[in-house]
Amino acid sequence: MPLTIAIDGPAAAGKGTLAKRLAEHYSLPYLDTGLLYRAVGKLAHEQGIDLDDPEATGALAAKLDTSHLDDGSLRGREAGELASRVAVHPQVRNALIAFQKNFAARPDGAVLDGRDIGTVICPEARVKIFVTASPEVRARRRTDELVAKGRHVDYDTILAEVRERDTRDAGRATAPLKPADDAHLLDTSKMDIETAFRAACELIDRAA
Ligand code: CDP
Ligand code: CDP
Repeated sequence: MPLTIAIDGPAAAGKGTLAKRLAEHYSLPYLDTGLLYRAVGKLAHEQGIDLDDPEATGALAAKLDTSHLDDGSLRGREAGELASRVAVHPQVRNALIAFQKNFAARPDGAVLDGRDIGTVICPEARVKIFVTASPEVRARRRTDELVAKGRHVDYDTILAEVRERDTRDAGRATAPLKPADDAHLLDTSKMDIETAFRAACELIDRAA
């Protein structure tokens, strides 16, 4: 049976860092599904399309191709905010499902991270991990990461952004952020990257 690993959780919980390490360790392909929503949000913004328009943003999502995902600015704060606004529309989410499901169905397995991997994209994943940390810890991590890159940001602004994104992602009607019933919760508030990685490997090796 292929090893498919679903990693979900709120903003800046450490999903991407963990998912990448796991993909390397188990020699699996990795998909950061947040990039898809970020690309749709950014394209909508650039083209002057109303982010609250489900049909227009859904049409953009339907035309998305992987060449749109190379853009380095997608990883920034602004794209994260745009992403969470377009991600509330079922039209946008539905247009992105087939690509993600195909990726998850690779014969040797795959690692995907996002918000709804364990609940919607890959409910049959062999291992589901819901990575969390307190909003304060996540905001601290994101602030440190940005300051290390030379950005001028303050912790309180980032904390407010983290909270706003949590509220929008968990509160939407379609595919809200929530752990699947069979997900393992991994609270990394007091874990460094290495400790979180080892804890995840233990869960995966037990399920393998
Ligand atoms: O993908 P997601 O937004 O969930 O988080 P990330 O980009 O993987 O991690 C956010 C920041 O937290 C990065 O700078 C990581 O290095 C850091 N991090 C950490 O300090 N401790 C952890 N256990 C996990 C991540
Ligand atoms: O790394 P971080 O957690 O900050 O963001 P991300 O994973 O790149 O996701 C950006 C936004 O896209 C999230 O706040 C969600 O609104 C949306 N998203 C989603 O709805 N479903 C996914 N599978 C992945 C991302």
